[in-house]
Amino acid sequence: MHSPVGEYLQQILSECAADDGAVADYIPELAAADPDHLAVALCTPDGTLYSAGDAERRFTIQSISKPFAYALALRDHGIDAVLEKVGVEPSGDAFNEISLEERTGRPENPMINIGAITTHTLVGPADLDEDARTARVIEGLGAFAGRELAVDEDVFASEMSEVWRNLALASLVRANGIISGSPEEAVRGYTRQCAALVDVRDLAVMGMTLARGGTNPLTGEQVVPEEVARQVLSVMTSCGMYDAAGDWLSAVGIPAKSGVAGGILGALPGQVGAGTFSPRLDRFGNSVRGVRVFERLSRDMNLHLM
Ligand code: DON
Repeated sequence: MHSPVGEYLQQILSECAADDGAVADYIPELAAADPDHLAVALCTPDGTLYSAGDAERRFTIQSISKPFAYALALRDHGIDAVLEKVGVEPSGDAFNEISLEERTGRPENPMINIGAITTHTLVGPADLDEDARTARVIEGLGAFAGRELAVDEDVFASEMSEVWRNLALASLVRANGIISGSPEEAVRGYTRQCAALVDVRDLAVMGMTLARGGTNPLTGEQVVPEEVARQVLSVMTSCGMYDAAGDWLSAVGIPAKSGVAGGILGALPGQVGAGTFSPRLDRFGNSVRGVRVFERLSRDMNLHLM
């Protein structure tokens, strides 16, 4: 990429190259990731893409799928019906905690695992079978990205081999009457959703789709209504970076979501979609170099919301 923007992005990557943190190892297959990969992409409202670094490298979307599955559930059932099952308050706890509201028994928000497992089951009609629901979610993620997404079956199988904690979380929401089907099916579908393969350009387009009120800048498809995009961006702002959400909001100021494979997606309403990838994570499960690249982008391009 020889545009001035491409050169600027390359420059940022070289200045943010110092790395610490550790790749996730609770999903065995992710522990084998090459920790040196580093990439960034930006998408403008008219669908122009800029990227630098390992922009072709695909990785599993993991938790970055959560706001998009939430969007699909909101589209399919409406905001009020989904709010009855999953709240919108930051939990202040780690992403895999048992963060349930005492009064209602519903998960605190859809960005943490217990909320996202619940949200997965809310995509499509209630009587959809497991495979059809999973296909609907993956197809929906693809509509946000503007292309059909594949699933990394090795990462899926690897996470399923150690999935006890998520299974416990799913069993708790089942016991609370928040989900109605089998916890095993919910966890399998959710884990497959997390294993969808993307690159940083996909993340930038997905972010721009939310930032444009739900319309994909490449395909022109209105994937979700405008009020759904607004709801999702709001929850990303308060809960997207887990227990680092406050630090992120003050330092970067862009609605965002991170994933444990090392991706971060940002979506600034009306302005830009952004994606970064670097596998080493901080103690919150957010990519160390990704956070640094976003801090630079925000400062240099004046992207802070405030
Ligand atoms: O459920 C899990 O633990 C993973 N499939 C996703 C977690 C994740 O990406 C947390 N984010 N940083």
